[in-house]
Amino acid sequence: MSIQKPLQALTKRATPAQSLQHRPRIWQPQRCLATVSNGNFVPPVTQDNTSSKGPTAMVFMNMGGPATTDEVGGFLSRLFADADLIPLGPLQNYLGPLISRRRTPKIKKQYANIGGGSPIRKWSEYQASEMCKILDKTNPETAPHKPYVAFRYANPLTEDMYAQLLEDGFGKGRGGRAVAFTQYPQYSCSTTGSSLNELWKLRQRLESPSRNNSLDAAQAEGSIKWSVIDRWPTHPGLVEAFAENINATLQTYPEEIRDSVVILYSAHSLPMSVVNRGDPYPAEVAATVWAVQQRLGFRNPYRLCWQSQVGPSAWLGAQTSDTVNNFVKKGQKDLLLVPIAFTSDHIETLFEIDQEVIHEANELGADGRTRRAESLNGSPTFISALASLAGAHLRNNEVCSRQMGLRCPGCKSERCLEQKRFFMGQGEQANNAVTL
Ligand code: FES
Repeated sequence: MSIQKPLQALTKRATPAQSLQHRPRIWQPQRCLATVSNGNFVPPVTQDNTSSKGPTAMVFMNMGGPATTDEVGGFLSRLFADADLIPLGPLQNYLGPLISRRRTPKIKKQYANIGGGSPIRKWSEYQASEMCKILDKTNPETAPHKPYVAFRYANPLTEDMYAQLLEDGFGKGRGGRAVAFTQYPQYSCSTTGSSLNELWKLRQRLESPSRNNSLDAAQAEGSIKWSVIDRWPTHPGLVEAFAENINATLQTYPEEIRDSVVILYSAHSLPMSVVNRGDPYPAEVAATVWAVQQRLGFRNPYRLCWQSQVGPSAWLGAQTSDTVNNFVKKGQKDLLLVPIAFTSDHIETLFEIDQEVIHEANELGADGRTRRAESLNGSPTFISALASLAGAHLRNNEVCSRQMGLRCPGCKSERCLEQKRFFMGQGEQANNAVTL
C-alpha cells in the first residue's frame, strides 16, 4: 500500500532529464506459490516473474464499440452510465439510461452506415496478436505472450477478459503476470482512468481476500501481478506511424501545393468540467501533435481541434467541424484531417469525419480537397511500435509511469485514489510510492 508524501519531496528528487513520466516505477519480482486443487498439483503460471516461464497476458484496454447494430443499445447504456467518461452529476443513474435510449436509434443508423458495426474489435485483436508474436521473439524471458482485449463499453468487456484470464490459469493461487496496456496513447481519467478503475474494481472483487471470503491464503498470495502501460503520447514508433500515414495522404495533393495543405489534428473532446479538474489529456494530445510535426519537419501549417462533443455543456474546442467549415469558407480547401488520439478506425473516423465533416466541407465547395489520413489500424510500423513499447516495459520490470501517482488537482474520487495506490503499490519500494 502506498503512503502519501508531500509533493515537494517528489519534485525535489526529479530532474529535467528524469521527468516523472519517463521514470517508470519498477516491479519487484515475487515468487508465486503452487496450489493444490481437488487433490491435483496446480503449478503456478509463472514460477518467477522475471524468468522465462511465462505466459504473460498482454491486455489491450480501450473503450470498444458495438460490433453489430444489435449491440448499440447495451454499448450506449454502459457509456452513459460511466461518470468517469460523461459526468452527469447526481442524476447520472436517471439521465444516463434516458439519454442512451433516446440516442440508440440515431446511433444504430450511423453504425449501419459504416458497414453494420465498429471495426475496433477486429483491429484490437489483430494488433494484440501480432504484437505478441513479435514479443515472443524479442522477449523470450516472458514468453509466451497471450493477447487479450478488454473493452470498457462493448464486448469483450473487462469482466469477460478477467474471467478468461482466470480460466486460462492466471491468478487464484497460480500467479502469473498481466500487463494492462492502454490503447489510448494519451492519458485521460475519462478513458484510461475509467478502464483502470474498472480493472481495479474487478481485481478487488475476484482476487482480493478482503473482498472475497472464498479465497484462501494461497490463492490470495498467488493473485495476478498487474503492471500498466498507462500513456505513450510521444513514443517514437507511434510518431513514425502517424507521420507515415500523413505523408501518404500528402502525396495525393499536387506537389506545388503540398506544403500549404493545412494539417488538422483531430482528437475526441472533453467536457470543460473534466479539463478544469486538471485532466492530463489535452497536454498529452498536444505533445503527440508537436512530436509528429517535428518528425514532419514543420513543413505544413497545422492546428489541433476537438470532435464529438455531446450535450449542451461546455466542451473543449475549437470543434473539428467548425474549424473545417471556417477554413473552407475562407477559401482554404486543402485540409488534411488526422485522427490523433485513437489508433484504430471507429465511428468518429468512419462516420463523423468521413461522412459528416468531409461531406459538409464538400457541400461548402471543398471539391474533394479536404481529406483524412488513414488510421493506424494494421500499420506494421504501428504494430512494431506497440511491441517495442511493451518489450521495454516487460524487460525493465516497469509497474507504471511515475505520473500514475498523481491525481487531477480537482479529483475527489476515492476510487481514483485506491486504484492508483493499488497499481503504484505493485512495485518495489511500494511504501515510498507517492499517491496524492
Ligand atoms: Fe483524474 Fe480522479 S479524476 S485522478
